[in-house]
Amino acid sequence: MKQQIKGIIFDLDGVICFTDIYHYNAWKEMADGEGIEFDLKINDRLKGVSRAESLEIILEKASREYTPQEKADLMELKNHIYREQLKTMTPADLSEEVRNTLDALRAKGLKLAIGSSSKNAKFILERIGLIDFFDAISDGTNIQRSKPDPQVFLMAAQMLQLNPEECLVVEDAEAGIDAAEAGHFHRAGIGSARDYAKTEYRLDSFQDLLNIPLES
Ligand code: BG6
Ligand code: MG
Repeated sequence: MKQQIKGIIFDLDGVICFTDIYHYNAWKEMADGEGIEFDLKINDRLKGVSRAESLEIILEKASREYTPQEKADLMELKNHIYREQLKTMTPADLSEEVRNTLDALRAKGLKLAIGSSSKNAKFILERIGLIDFFDAISDGTNIQRSKPDPQVFLMAAQMLQLNPEECLVVEDAEAGIDAAEAGHFHRAGIGSARDYAKTEYRLDSFQDLLNIPLES
């Protein structure tokens, strides 16, 4: 079947900018405070999944049960620590490579969107000066189910008025690649998702996006 890619849907954390390390730092501080073991390996499982689901994964290592109120408090604490770090971000935190690649993709006539599970996505885009750049923003505020459910990407495609088969999803999380596959999107993986079995295009760097054939 003839393939034509008309739009690209980008994950945000770990793809457009390196906020994934801030997520890790904030969860680590919370987990240390509770005496719960937490490391980079466990952190990999949090990529792409919602705040509430991330907490459940961390609590698998806890030695006691947590009440719904305690869980809400821990999520608020984590989000507070996380947002304090986000506040330090400026447009200088957007790499030149990402900025130039986004501009080059747009110049090819592609529609560009964000597909992120984060409720902080717009805040981050404001901080790095990209809030007005994308044609659509689908994020944690407009979905009921986070990745690996395809909802966030399906909403983005709908906003772009494209079919999933016409869109390429760019992800650093296995849960995100799973979501893209479930929604019948094309899939490019970077970072942790580069070598994942379900990844279609393996990116060594963001600018490798420019080498993906739009028609084949
Ligand atoms: C995703 C991150 O982008 O957003 C996850 O990869 C995170 O690790 C999720 O849990 C939700 O983020 P937030 O900002 O709403 O807590
Ligand atoms: Mg990510």
